[in-house]
Amino acid sequence: MQDMGIFTPQLTADGSFTFFSEEFGETFHSQQGAKKEAELKFVEPTQLRQKAHQPTLHLLDICYGLGYNTAAALETIWQVNPNCRVEWVGLELDASVPKAAIAHHLLNHWNPDHAQIFHQLATSGKVQTERLNAQLIVGDARATIQQIYHSNFRADAIFLDPFSPPRCPQLWTVEFLSWVAKCLKPDGRLATYSCAAAVRAALIAAGLQIGATFPVGRRSPGTVASFTNLDIAALSVQEQEHLHTKAAIPYRDPHLCEPADAILQRRQIDQQASALEPTSHWKKRWLFQSQLRIQ
Ligand SMILES: C[S@@+](CC[C@H](N)C(=O)[O-])C[C@H]1O[C@@H](n2cnc3c(N)ncnc32)[C@H](O)[C@@H]1O
Repeated sequence: MQDMGIFTPQLTADGSFTFFSEEFGETFHSQQGAKKEAELKFVEPTQLRQKAHQPTLHLLDICYGLGYNTAAALETIWQVNPNCRVEWVGLELDASVPKAAIAHHLLNHWNPDHAQIFHQLATSGKVQTERLNAQLIVGDARATIQQIYHSNFRADAIFLDPFSPPRCPQLWTVEFLSWVAKCLKPDGRLATYSCAAAVRAALIAAGLQIGATFPVGRRSPGTVASFTNLDIAALSVQEQEHLHTKAAIPYRDPHLCEPADAILQRRQIDQQASALEPTSHWKKRWLFQSQLRIQ
């Protein structure tokens, strides 16, 4: 884990800041805009603006990090309904990340009235007010998700925001996502920035229906998932065909404890043994079709 002094804020295109993780070799947010990504890839697709009319909302933030997705969610919910009570759980491996975000005043891009909440989450991991009951659980989400399930917490909205699958395959496996799905209410929604075929296939294997979210931030669309397919935007034909290529072979971690390289290696072996279409063929076919459209 990184020392918090190592996290240096990096400017993104919308004026908000992110960090770079030496451990995972990736930034925490899209360079196109960290704040925009939280709002458009997580809060909008989970329909929190509409759900905020409920008296209580349960939110599960997987990979809390700097806290941006939760900051965007609370701002949206309480703008719509200041009396909505929020039951919140956040999962994070590295407690120094939220601490560094506070030390660098990075939550200042959101409502200053909520600053105390993020300060308390970073320091004590708990917040209890009249309208918020929040707990940040530090540890490997592969273990803590099971704790959440056994505590009977069921979410109206889940934010799934690990580093990318090649960097952090542990949190994109069929086994992990099956536990995540078990923590979602029957009419709840899960949102992630990823549109990787392996991620989408794993969400489907976990029993969820999937749809695409609007392409912003990381330029490609994200994914929204739910047990009901009510008003989820359908995948395009191109995206559907992607799910029938080798790219859709999911990551596996049968005992939820394998290191990243073992999970990557297992998938490579599964891909080599698979009779599915090579993803390069699919890419070429669609490139050819888009060229035909331009002509
Ligand atoms: C892309 S960042 C999340 C950004 C965050 N959602 C935000 O809004 O700032 C991924 C986060 O996942 C955390 N992480 C990595 N492996 C984890 C694991 N096994 N369990 C829980 N969290 C993990 C990292 O420490 C990092 O904070």
